[in-house]
Amino acid sequence: MTDVLVLNGPNLGRLGTREPDVYGALDAPTLAETVVRWGTELGLAVEVRQTDDEATLVGWLHGAVDARQDVVLNPAAFTHYSYALRDAVAQVTTGGCRLVEVHLTNPAARERFRHTSVVAGVATGTVAGFGPDSYRLALQALVGARGA
Ligand code: DQA
Repeated sequence: MTDVLVLNGPNLGRLGTREPDVYGALDAPTLAETVVRWGTELGLAVEVRQTDDEATLVGWLHGAVDARQDVVLNPAAFTHYSYALRDAVAQVTTGGCRLVEVHLTNPAARERFRHTSVVAGVATGTVAGFGPDSYRLALQALVGARGA
């Protein structure tokens, strides 16, 4: 049974070739394997998914709350403007599950349009700016919150 769903939004399937100076050289399959391994080390069964499609991401969030799974979400560009995603995230966090918003980069230190997250206000918390380690820190936070 999956304890934590790790969901990646648009263009994150292109990691490795996508602006490596910004997002690093690690490709998406290797990131997914690494995140699953970090989960195992922390005692969590983790499943990683990626989509470029907003409706698919919204559906996965509905599924997470129905299955009572915590979520690590990198909403990618949807972070900055998707109220549909925000409303889906709110259902997760008001439905008794935790959701950590993660970013590889620190959006607050980048272009102005990235300074707004419409998701942050309904997430349990946010980890940004630590590259792939953002995901590890998010999983650690969920483990800590479960033990609390
Ligand atoms: C990102 C930051 C977003 O602004 C951007 O649109 C992404 C990736 C990150 O992980 O740093 O696609 O979420």
